[in-house]
Amino acid sequence: MDRPYTILSCAASVDGRIDDTGPRRLRLSNEADFAEIDELRAGCDAILVGAGTLRADDPRLLVRSPLLRERRRARGRTENLLKVLVTRSGEFSPEARFFSTGDAGAVVYTGGTGVGTARRALEGRPADDPPAEVVDAGDPPTAKAILADLAGRGVSRLLVEGGGHVHTLFLTSGLADELRLAVAPFFVGEEEAPRFVLPGAFPYTFDAPMRLVEARALGDVAVLRYRLGAGEEA
Ligand SMILES: NC(=O)c1ccc[n+]([C@@H]2O[C@H](COP(=O)([O-])OP(=O)(O)OC[C@H]3O[C@@H](n4cnc5c(N)ncnc54)[C@H](OP(=O)(O)O)[C@@H]3O)[C@@H](O)[C@H]2O)c1
Repeated sequence: MDRPYTILSCAASVDGRIDDTGPRRLRLSNEADFAEIDELRAGCDAILVGAGTLRADDPRLLVRSPLLRERRRARGRTENLLKVLVTRSGEFSPEARFFSTGDAGAVVYTGGTGVGTARRALEGRPADDPPAEVVDAGDPPTAKAILADLAGRGVSRLLVEGGGHVHTLFLTSGLADELRLAVAPFFVGEEEAPRFVLPGAFPYTFDAPMRLVEARALGDVAVLRYRLGAGEEA
């Protein structure tokens, strides 16, 4: 199957949580880690999150560094990445910054009744917002269908930035190539806090482990890079 080289990126506490239960997003990275993630973003064509992340964080998912944006422009690319949203329900706020910022547009993957719900949500957006399209990727949407459609749009490198449901979807599909896990030097310790992954049939087991290609300290944050599949890089 023709699909993008797919990198999953996540920052988690030592106890595997990617946020706490408080109203504000928990900071699990430091500035050096954020700068590396910005470079990682700038080297990709598209960036994907789940609807849970959109609702919780209202992220913009832009390339932060003016220099990195300028370099992309000089190579004839958009300054920012194509944004990708995955939702079963099709329910999200069309006013989210995800849709109103950036210069490469957005694609929403959903399925079943979610298709109509998502299309209706996007109908009333301001005309000068970046373009946003809704695509039926099955009910429920599959990683395979999403990746095939993205490949058809010319996406050759995809960055998946969470949250836990989406990481689980891509990891259990066996269709991801690389995992970059930043481990923050503390515990969250809350039962209800979102997890890096949910229970699932992961292909990376005791008998078939991932390959650790890098382990590095960025201050007190540990950066671990695993190679997952048969992709060329990592
Ligand atoms: N530390 C980090 O690196 C990091 C990064 C990103 C997010 N986060 C945190 O993660 C939390 C959100 O994580 P989360 O796991 O709740 O949300 P998520 O993975 O971002 O999104 C979950 C949503 O994805 C959709 N979904 C789930 N399974 C699906 C499937 N098989 N096919 C299609 N769509 C599917 C559903 O959307 P519908 O409900 O619309 O159907 C579901 O509610 C937030 O607290 C956020 O701050 C942390």
